[in-house]
Amino acid sequence: MQHIFKEGTDHKLPTLLLLHGTGGNERDLLPIADMIAPNASVLGVRGNVLENGMPRFFRRLAEGVFDEEDLIFRTNELNEFISDMADQYQFNRNNVVAIGYSNGANIAASLMYHYNRALKGAILLHAMVPRRGIQIPDLSETSIFIGAGTNDPIIPPAETKELADALKLAKADVTEHWGDAGHQLTREEIIKAKEWFEKNYTK
Ligand code: MLT
Repeated sequence: MQHIFKEGTDHKLPTLLLLHGTGGNERDLLPIADMIAPNASVLGVRGNVLENGMPRFFRRLAEGVFDEEDLIFRTNELNEFISDMADQYQFNRNNVVAIGYSNGANIAASLMYHYNRALKGAILLHAMVPRRGIQIPDLSETSIFIGAGTNDPIIPPAETKELADALKLAKADVTEHWGDAGHQLTREEIIKAKEWFEKNYTK
């Protein structure tokens, strides 16, 4: 997968896995990572699927309707890619925290729905329910920050609530932040995500 790796100065911090939204690339979330944890290593990845020329992490049949078979395939592909990159760049595979926005948040959620050790934690910004009707693995070792907008036209609040509830049921430690916002990222939610990151990984 196309990617960028930047080694951080503090190797005890988790490596941040950056997963962009539809039409983005491996560099999109670098400024967000820099705000959240400037000393952490980062692995920015570009989705392998193109929709009208726009990179995504998995195919969809319509807006909000996912191609489940492709989602499963791409989730496995990304999980293996992270392991390969951990070998290549010598970071701890068991200490990876995803920062995903929109489509990137959805594949980060999918990683956790399928594998209980894919991610140590995740910052899911404007995320949806990746799949329904499957048993989510035990996520008692996983901490998750969910940032959402109460007026998001793409992601109904009820859907983000459903995601949070499913992750809690799987025993994940879930922190929710609801802003008076739409689908765009807000400075406020990044500040909250930074506080969450520092509480969980630097103290
Ligand atoms: C998706 O397809 O993952 C969601 O609809 C979010 C997006 O627009 O990328």
